[in-house]
Amino acid sequence: MGAWEETIRHNRTAPIFLPAPIALFMRIWYNSIISKFRIILYRKPVILMISFNVPPYTGKELLYMKEAIDAHKISGDGKFTRQCSRIMEERFHAARILLTTSGTSALDMASLLCKFHKGDEVILPSYTFSSTANAVLMGGASPVFVDIRPDTMNIDETKIEAAVTPATKAIMVVHYAGVACEMDTILDIARRHGLKVIEDAAQGMMSTYKGQYLGTIGDIGCYSYHETKNYSMGEGGAIIINHREDIERAEILREKGTNRSKFFRGEIDKYSWVDKGDSFLPSELNAAYLYAQLEQMDAINNDRLRVYNTYRAAFAPLAEAGRIDLQTIPQDCVHNAHMFYIKLRDLEERTAFIQYMKEAGICTVFHFVPLHSAPAGRKYGRFHGEDVYTTRESDRLVRLPLYYGMTETDQQTVIDAAMRFFERNPA
Ligand SMILES: Cc1ncc(COP(=O)(O)O)c(C=O)c1O
Repeated sequence: MGAWEETIRHNRTAPIFLPAPIALFMRIWYNSIISKFRIILYRKPVILMISFNVPPYTGKELLYMKEAIDAHKISGDGKFTRQCSRIMEERFHAARILLTTSGTSALDMASLLCKFHKGDEVILPSYTFSSTANAVLMGGASPVFVDIRPDTMNIDETKIEAAVTPATKAIMVVHYAGVACEMDTILDIARRHGLKVIEDAAQGMMSTYKGQYLGTIGDIGCYSYHETKNYSMGEGGAIIINHREDIERAEILREKGTNRSKFFRGEIDKYSWVDKGDSFLPSELNAAYLYAQLEQMDAINNDRLRVYNTYRAAFAPLAEAGRIDLQTIPQDCVHNAHMFYIKLRDLEERTAFIQYMKEAGICTVFHFVPLHSAPAGRKYGRFHGEDVYTTRESDRLVRLPLYYGMTETDQQTVIDAAMRFFERNPA
């Protein structure tokens, strides 16, 4: 190590063998570098203390993952994948539930199962994630967007029928924030026009509509287990097949176009490539992670509801005073506390709120940017009717931190900071 490095290493004390003026120069130079460095590091620190999301973790995830590793079975459709399917099929009274690699791939599978053709149209809301509309494209059809209801941010069921044309083949509903769409009306329109109904219940596992679990009401349903969802496997999802006659084709689509699922059940003595397909089957490691949470389905749901209800009570006076709007939970719906959002006056006020909360160390986030205004939406889709609420309401909406195990102290910090914002910005 040379003298130069020695000087640096010993921090402020120059070694005695250096002539005094050089040592002094080096010390001044070194100190100035360090102080500049500190300015870069410490200028206006923004330290986020409360995250928007913490992925669910119950404690048994690693144990189950280790079990899969020890059993030398980490590819898909092993013990944990089967147990995940079984626990959900029993609970949700579903004909068949298959784990997939994501909510997006479940939606793609649903679209492929519908056997769309070029020129076919699918009606959906524009206020959703790109995956919903992408699935329509992946299945070979075109998305037709209709407006949403401002109270739930769900597709406006009264505007669907006017968008139906001879080319319409399906309605893809999105149960936003785990609150059900008006399914009776939607199923009635679908029946009268011979349309399929796909439920994008990515956010809706455990929620019900008139006592029926979301995802099990239409022809096909889809869940997401992304880390931001109530139950997670990192990246993952599930497809809910509600008609027994679709099960075999769904298994083939998911297993690269082969009838391998039948082979593993011992129903055939060899498997072959029999149809179109893809690799929609997740690893056992992910399934093992998810299974730990499915065992605690109700505990997770109840804990999220605790957080949700505390927010609801805290923000109710502001909503009653007309300062903000809160989500409406229609009478027939039981929700899963997937999300707690408030609606501010407009985009400008929402931007100010998010910044204020950020400076208070709290991460709050907006949500979907309407798809019909996105480049791909303009290229591949069209909006039927008028955009009365989609853009306006999405501009006002902001989500507050909500996750399994959120402490009362952290939640109170969020509430206090939000209240300070409204005190400083009265009506
Ligand atoms: C409504 C909706 N649909 C689909 C998806 C896609 O799910 P995944 O991220 O698991 O692919 C999401 C994910 O956020 C979603 O919110």
